[in-house]
Amino acid sequence: MSRTIRATGQNFSSVLSDAAAVIRGGGLVAFPTETVYGLGANASDADAVAKIFAAKGRPSTNPLIVHVNDKNSAKALAAHWPKEADLLLDAFAPGPLSIVVKKNDSVPSIVSAGMDSVAIRIPSHPVARALIEQSGCPLAAPSANTANAVSPTLAEHVQKSLANKVDMILDAGPSENGLESTVVDLTTSPPRILRPGPVTRLQIESIVGAVTLFEATADEVVNSPGMMKKHYSPNADLRIVKTEDLNKFCDQKSGESVGCITYSPRADSLVCTEHVVLPDNARAFGSMLYAALHALDEKGVNSIVVEAPPASDDWYAVRDRLDRAAN
Ligand code: TXA
Ligand code: MG
Repeated sequence: MSRTIRATGQNFSSVLSDAAAVIRGGGLVAFPTETVYGLGANASDADAVAKIFAAKGRPSTNPLIVHVNDKNSAKALAAHWPKEADLLLDAFAPGPLSIVVKKNDSVPSIVSAGMDSVAIRIPSHPVARALIEQSGCPLAAPSANTANAVSPTLAEHVQKSLANKVDMILDAGPSENGLESTVVDLTTSPPRILRPGPVTRLQIESIVGAVTLFEATADEVVNSPGMMKKHYSPNADLRIVKTEDLNKFCDQKSGESVGCITYSPRADSLVCTEHVVLPDNARAFGSMLYAALHALDEKGVNSIVVEAPPASDDWYAVRDRLDRAAN
């Protein structure tokens, strides 16, 4: 059974040194990041990394992101360091961006699911950074949820799904971004966004010029297995509905309970079993979306109706996660 421990305030340094000891001993620690909570293990220890796959029920074909604290530690994992890596990390690290580069032999093949590349992220969250620093090793960390489920944005979410499978859960309250990092593949030219996220396409293009977007065709999914169509799913069936059709779909037919997530003032007076009203700007909506999905699942609604997000670039990551959740 794991221990959930508050990693803020007075106990910070003793809690972090306990957690680092777990990592160095080959164990699993769930920890907060500025995107979502991660499930960390020593990335250099193949046996420790195997525990991540087992705890999540994650297919061994789906590679993990390696977390480090600075650019030199990132370079130490790469066989080739493209100039875009410097440009993007200078612009967005530490923060919610992962870059994919060719890996060297210091990265065990279990981390990269046998591929010759590795995804690297420099997180900004102080707990994540202290854990990396004190562990003295890179941390392999996927989101701390069972495979294909909604990512955790609170320690309670981790506790609910993985409590008896991890050694320690560090709690530092809600994740700031609430959506997983943007993943950019730098092994292709031009670079390619594999997963949209808090760093937007326009922000990335302002640094490295035009990029391509990953399409989840069968061939492509082989290259980034985490991007399969169905992912990030709540237990309840999820449907994305245009604002003007919300009333029709939220009607509770045949005693079914319906949870609605909306953002526009026009949807304020909706009649449904549970109504979650989120902010109407993309960042704030994204930061609260997963907590809303977890809460509606917790209430046991039969289905979830989400107001269709706007088509603009700032909403791209939200649209992506909702499309996958609806699949
Ligand atoms: O925000 C985040 O990125 C969080 C926090 C904990 O850092 N982590 C996260 O990890 O979302 P995960 O494992 O849930 O998602 C990693 C994504 C998957 O879609 C995976 O396929 C892709 O990154 N990925 C990892 N390594 C890759 C590689 N070498 N090539 C292509 N895609 C890769
Ligand atoms: Mg995940």
